[in-house]
Amino acid sequence: MDPIVSFQGVTKRYGYLSVLKELDLDVAPNEKVAIIGPSGSGKSTLLRVLMTLEQIQEGIIYVDGQPLTHMERNGALVPADERYQRSVRGKIGMVFQNFNLFPHMTALQNCMEAPMNVLGLSRQDAQARASELLEMVGLADKMQSRPNRLSGGQQQRVAIARALAMRPKVMLFDEVTSALDPELVGEVLNVIRKLGDEHNLTMLMVTHQMGFAREFADRVCFFYEGRIAEQGPPNEFFTDPKNERTRAFLSAVLEAH
Ligand SMILES: Nc1ncnc2c1ncn2[C@@H]1O[C@H](COP(=O)(O)OP(=O)(O)O)[C@@H](O)[C@H]1O
Ligand SMILES: [Mg+2]
Repeated sequence: MDPIVSFQGVTKRYGYLSVLKELDLDVAPNEKVAIIGPSGSGKSTLLRVLMTLEQIQEGIIYVDGQPLTHMERNGALVPADERYQRSVRGKIGMVFQNFNLFPHMTALQNCMEAPMNVLGLSRQDAQARASELLEMVGLADKMQSRPNRLSGGQQQRVAIARALAMRPKVMLFDEVTSALDPELVGEVLNVIRKLGDEHNLTMLMVTHQMGFAREFADRVCFFYEGRIAEQGPPNEFFTDPKNERTRAFLSAVLEAH
């Protein structure tokens, strides 16, 4: 099957610092990929360039068969303009570590904003879609609450519903449980699990939850200094890591828990 996301020789630099180095990565439709690795290895950057929050310097990224960073003009590929990028990016939703909800809007309004303003949905349709999704993440009784009235876990579930309201094909999760008190982690992971079971969604998730990665992901990618140092199905990856650096990382992480 054709990949839904394809990184081909992607290099991202900040000044002289190469953060992604000639990276190749294909993700199949509906695949769940867990991205792990030490701090500073480029995990967030990978998601951010896919969300077009950052520009790349070399290589090309395809989403659903369309180039994300480039567009075709007269048979040649030229750098994509804003409008084109927005249309391809519409296939992707992202959830961040720190929720990033609009503080002055209710949970419901947070989930209606972009569908109305970006997709042009009517207020009525946006509201129907938003309430259905908030129900799905278990927040039927919190629709009228503003973020400061919600726990971290509830805020993060609103953020997931908000991303889903755009009907993305690919969801990106960047350490979405890292800012949560330990007792709230489970409710957010359960929502992600449910999404995986009930929806045809491709997911790329940066996580420090090794147990969750092992149980949920189809593939684990270990990042080290801007490259994928090792990857494989979780069972192989966690029981028999081949790379020295993977082993060092896993024993450090597992020891900390
Ligand atoms: N806006 C930026 N300007 C300069 N350097 C950055 C910027 N964002 C990230 N970096 C650097 O890029 C590297 C990779 O960062 P990041 O992708 O956030 O790593 P990770 O998510 O794996 O911890 C780090 O060395 C970080 O300091
Ligand atoms: Mg990060």
